[in-house]
Amino acid sequence: MNAIPSVKLIDGKATAARVLADVRTHVARLRESGLQPGLAVVLVGTDAASQVYVRNKVLRAGEVGIRSLEQRLPSDASQAQLLELIEQLNRDPDVHGILVQLPLPAHIDEHQVVQAIDPLKDVDGFHSHNVGGLAQGRSVLTPCTPSGCMRLLRDACGELRGKHAVVVGRSNIVGKPMAALLLQADCTVTVVHSRSRDLQALCRQADIVVAAVGKPRLIDADWLKPGAVVIDVGINRIEEDGRSRLVGDVDFAAALPRVSAITPVPGGVGPMTIAYLMKNTLLALDLQRQAAQQERTPCLSPC
Ligand code: GUN
Repeated sequence: MNAIPSVKLIDGKATAARVLADVRTHVARLRESGLQPGLAVVLVGTDAASQVYVRNKVLRAGEVGIRSLEQRLPSDASQAQLLELIEQLNRDPDVHGILVQLPLPAHIDEHQVVQAIDPLKDVDGFHSHNVGGLAQGRSVLTPCTPSGCMRLLRDACGELRGKHAVVVGRSNIVGKPMAALLLQADCTVTVVHSRSRDLQALCRQADIVVAAVGKPRLIDADWLKPGAVVIDVGINRIEEDGRSRLVGDVDFAAALPRVSAITPVPGGVGPMTIAYLMKNTLLALDLQRQAAQQERTPCLSPC
């Protein structure tokens, strides 16, 4: 088998390692000044995939020197119990970031839970304060997966201004914030979804395709303009040839000869999500310090 030219592969693992090395250096500096960033990760129930994600987040935090606090509640925990825990974490000065792992059990109102998190501790960027801030182009906490995708795109493409980006999928976690970040980077952005007409033709116009639909190998070579840059956010487990394996939303083997660069699955976007969670924890701490500073500074103008 011919080796894949490395210039075509967008190596999320290597980029994530660089992001984490920067975070580690920053954390070490903060700790010298007596401050240790803290991240609380809340898991409700026993969903197998969520347990793996939470374990990885806690492990990675430890590796970069962030104090992590894992909080588990049983599947039958009430909404009130979860809200009380979030209130406690909001008040805790040693907790700078709060993440509630999704999905939550069906009896819990996810929106109310997300809205209960202090927006300055909302390292997922899901609170409406942060969603609105992103839409307005303000400097706020932004969702980790799309933020990680933007870093990969900037490294792969250089200048993004004027490029036509097609985002496939309109989820609150990836598709919508991804579109907002691309717009902020001066791309021309099209969002396509399950009800769009002629998905393929729309994708074929794209200089950049970001696939985030959760459908294994939906996008094949025919959907892609020659030389496109492809970011595959999908992580789908399939059974193939009697084996279980992870594949993306893009048919990687078919797309490879056609594109100028593409993320593999696994090893592309996945590692970037956790790296940006760590980066967001530092950003959250910084935003909280700025807010505290503003509170201490007397207002000199008549207000
Ligand atoms: N579940 C799947 N992705 C995410 C994420 O980015 N954040 C949280 N909190 N839960 C998730």
